[in-house]
Amino acid sequence: MSAQTSQQTVKSMDKIVALCRRRGFLFQSSEIYGGLNGFWDYGPMGVELKRNIKQAWWHDMVTSHNELLTPPGAPGPYAMVGVDTTIIMHPQVWKVSGHYDLFHDMMVDCRETKRRYRYDQVVGRWVQYGGQRIFVTTDEEGPQTEQDLLQRALKFFKLRSKNAEELQWDGPVQPLKCVQDFSVVLGPDAKSLGTLTQPREFNLMFKTYVGALAGEENVAFLRPETAQGIFVNFKNVLDSTRVKIPFGIAQIGKSFRNEITPRYFTFRSREFEQMEIEFFCHPKESQQWYKYWRDRRFQWYVSLGLDSQRLRLREHGAEELSHYSTGTADIEYAFPFLPPGKFGELEGIAHRGDFDLRSHMEGKLDPNTRPLQVELGPDGKPRWRGSGKDLTYRDEVTGERYVPHVVEPSAGADRAALAFLCEAYDEDQAPDEKGNPQNRVVMRFHPRLAPIKVAVFPLVKKEGMVEIARDIYGQLKKHANVFYDEKGAIGRRYRRQDEVGTPFCITVDGQTLEDRTVTIRDRDTLRQWRVKIDDCWSEIEKHLQPTH
Ligand code: GAP
Repeated sequence: MSAQTSQQTVKSMDKIVALCRRRGFLFQSSEIYGGLNGFWDYGPMGVELKRNIKQAWWHDMVTSHNELLTPPGAPGPYAMVGVDTTIIMHPQVWKVSGHYDLFHDMMVDCRETKRRYRYDQVVGRWVQYGGQRIFVTTDEEGPQTEQDLLQRALKFFKLRSKNAEELQWDGPVQPLKCVQDFSVVLGPDAKSLGTLTQPREFNLMFKTYVGALAGEENVAFLRPETAQGIFVNFKNVLDSTRVKIPFGIAQIGKSFRNEITPRYFTFRSREFEQMEIEFFCHPKESQQWYKYWRDRRFQWYVSLGLDSQRLRLREHGAEELSHYSTGTADIEYAFPFLPPGKFGELEGIAHRGDFDLRSHMEGKLDPNTRPLQVELGPDGKPRWRGSGKDLTYRDEVTGERYVPHVVEPSAGADRAALAFLCEAYDEDQAPDEKGNPQNRVVMRFHPRLAPIKVAVFPLVKKEGMVEIARDIYGQLKKHANVFYDEKGAIGRRYRRQDEVGTPFCITVDGQTLEDRTVTIRDRDTLRQWRVKIDDCWSEIEKHLQPTH
């Protein structure tokens, strides 16, 4: 019997967050102490989901890549290798990369509430009442923004909801940066006007000290991206392997950013994981590689179940591009916490030219950027220059020497996990044991990503079914994450698995005792079919293969 899939399941973020907590996907970090804003812990289900995402990425991008063939859409064959570099690196890395001087957001502080906001995220609307015109703001741009602004304006002017029509709104919701005079601005949480400070720069890197002394000499930073660990090892990888250009170096690891306003669940966290590739190629071929990686990465999300209707590839306009980039595209997803029609970044694919390798060689930044604030060392020479090491590449066939260009597909493992969680969430009706429709919540994860691949149940706890079910469980455990459950009505056991997205349930029943067959139930179609016990794994395994 098939499930009545609800075409219109409203992907409510509240419901998704509640499910994540209830079923052990995500918890607030240090929750028993009140939590720490911008930090999240993955529970028993979440850790499996995120691990499966990272494993799928590493498998599909690195280990299963065949360097002898030209993949569809690629200008030629290429090699892929991986690294795992440290979170704390030489401070010079961040000076040369530009993060020390340029990796900041503009912030505004509220003198009244002592809260801090990202300047570019405060939005508001002009509103007038009783001859007074103010700019009422919020820092939460979402489906509820206009309603929030209305409530704030009513409160400020001491009006009741029934008097809402007396407010005269002027123009659409617009960013705070459109406003010159802050004395008429009502800050996002303030009661009085004019409490916001002028915007100031705020560097997003977390600072720490290496060694016993906490002096300026020992300052170090937690990496804000994994990419630099790859660039500084470019030569090591070349010298220790036989890779030739074009090739990519991949890395998965933690990054840290002291975000001013972490929010939207894990979307903008202060500690998160990235899955980055730095792809080194000849400058003349770099545009072709850029297009290849952009399309390849988009398809990867689709192959793992993200609805292409909710995904989009957005090329940056010239004004958005970094000074060194000749092309950047974001893969974006219509997260349910965003207003209709808005998308959030999942991954950026950037053409970085030779900026990074050249900077690590020469310590130069493009003259268009703000110049590095050069400090002088005791010898009177600038303290931070490039490494001075030769990071050029010599083509053994042509003899040409050049600084390779880089294409960088940079994905967030936590954002991907959040997108897969949002996409998977569904509500429908499935029949219970008596055939009566029951509401259920079902997480429709792609089987490769599902935390539990298969659950094994004895139909009832008697007549030898338990022994057989436990034996099947033991056999399947050798291959995958499997769950065993013998308690409660079978319908309830199915629904508990649906809620964590287990794609298959195996049930041992009376017939098993006669012919050693079991039923397999498909989470999405609810189809049930019988297979021999010995064929269980091969039946399930075929659904766990990559589909691209
Ligand atoms: N090396 C390039 C780089 O780091 P980015 O666009 O700043 O580029 C890449 O980050 C990806 O890392 C983003 O697309 C996003 O998926 C993830 N990411 C960035 N900041 C994040 C944050 N505060 N919380 C969660 N994920 C984040």
